[in-house]
Amino acid sequence: MAGGDVFLSAEDDTVSRVVRQRLKRTSDLNPHQYSHLYIPTLVRIQAPSARHLKTGATARKFAPDLGPLLESAIKASAKSNRKALPAGAHPKLRDLSQRPEAKADPARPPFPPQRQPAKMSVLESLKRSLSKGRIQMRYTREDSMTGTLLQGKNAVVFGAGGTIGAAVAKQLAAEGADVFLSGRTKSNVEAVAREITAAEGRAHPAVVDALDEAAVEEYIDDIVGHSRRLDVVFNAVGALVHEYGNGKHAVDLSVEEFMVPLTRFVKSEFITARAAARRMVQQRSGVIIFLTGSPARGHVEGATAIGTAFGAIETFMENLAFEVGPAGVRSVCLRITANTDSRSIEDVMNAVAAKTGATKDQLITGIASMNFLKVPSSIADTARAVAFLASDKARLFTGTVVNSSAGAALD
Ligand SMILES: NC(=O)c1ccc[n+]([C@@H]2O[C@H](COP(=O)([O-])OP(=O)(O)OC[C@H]3O[C@@H](n4cnc5c(N)ncnc54)[C@H](OP(=O)(O)O)[C@@H]3O)[C@@H](O)[C@H]2O)c1
Repeated sequence: MAGGDVFLSAEDDTVSRVVRQRLKRTSDLNPHQYSHLYIPTLVRIQAPSARHLKTGATARKFAPDLGPLLESAIKASAKSNRKALPAGAHPKLRDLSQRPEAKADPARPPFPPQRQPAKMSVLESLKRSLSKGRIQMRYTREDSMTGTLLQGKNAVVFGAGGTIGAAVAKQLAAEGADVFLSGRTKSNVEAVAREITAAEGRAHPAVVDALDEAAVEEYIDDIVGHSRRLDVVFNAVGALVHEYGNGKHAVDLSVEEFMVPLTRFVKSEFITARAAARRMVQQRSGVIIFLTGSPARGHVEGATAIGTAFGAIETFMENLAFEVGPAGVRSVCLRITANTDSRSIEDVMNAVAAKTGATKDQLITGIASMNFLKVPSSIADTARAVAFLASDKARLFTGTVVNSSAGAALD
């Protein structure tokens, strides 16, 4: 339920007025985010007036930031409605409405000592509530640079100029990692690095062709030489979907198209993972994270080439895990479903739209309908999952495909 509906349902009520005033100040959220906010505390504002006291208690519990506002509103409401209290009103509300207003003695310090909340913007306060799970959003946005999951770690992202690579690089930095991000096109990687540093993260951009074996080895050597440790390596190198005949049935694919994902993704994953594994085995720690998609298992038409490459990557990951595991190195793969805000999937949707005349919303709904949860998946979902797999919280995840496809492709 959108937050706004709730407040309109009780317009003449003091509590709802305070909350509405408060919401006006959330104008620094964009309308999309705002319309998807679901604030359990505020939903309870729908309760009839006799239960407002309970609402205040709930507010204090779930959103202390809103609690004092609601509290004063409830008191004001109870005071002005003393005569109007219904016979069957909640005893606590009746009690509150009869009690004289307590007068504070300015000479005596409050007991127990009150902690003065630091002043913060509404957006900041919402972010804090979100991070503590007090507020849920149906669609989540990328987190700010506040996490600590990867504090002190050095993370390397290849193909960081792309949509998924950039989202992952930003998320790893947001979780405290020093991010060494590289890509083919200098301006793309540097733009991502600027975003990270602007958000007070640590980014080290470089131009590296992730298909160039010698360049990758030298780059990894430089990082290890510079910072001594290599904790996380992730590769998001891609190709344009038309290059591998995406959308064509296997019987219509050319050999050249079929080979593109093999000679680019699989080859690049091998080059970067091997370079990482060589150093990680020596230092006896680290994690190599692979990325595949739901076509690793047949469930859509026109994905033969990319699906075959994904299958190969998953098998490579497993073999590597077996060999590097005894040295304390993890090798793990994240299998996702189509990220509807990634370039690859936008290209796919544009191609389908051109053929069928379907709108983007219809196509996203169609993609979402293929998974169990019937929700679209985003690059932020992928980035968060990679950050988790990179962290010590996932220390026993190795040799496995973590299926984050929402059920789109099961084993
Ligand atoms: N999108 C999804 O939903 C999805 C699902 C499952 C798996 N994947 C896989 O995730 C990967 C990235 O997808 P995406 O949607 O983020 O694609 P994208 O936005 O097109 O990004 C691909 C990136 O790879 C870079 N690149 C290409 N060749 C390179 C090379 N030799 N060396 C270094 N960088 C190179 C490109 O560099 P430039 O900056 O020069 O263009 C681009 O920045 C692909 O392998 C894709 O198959 C994606």
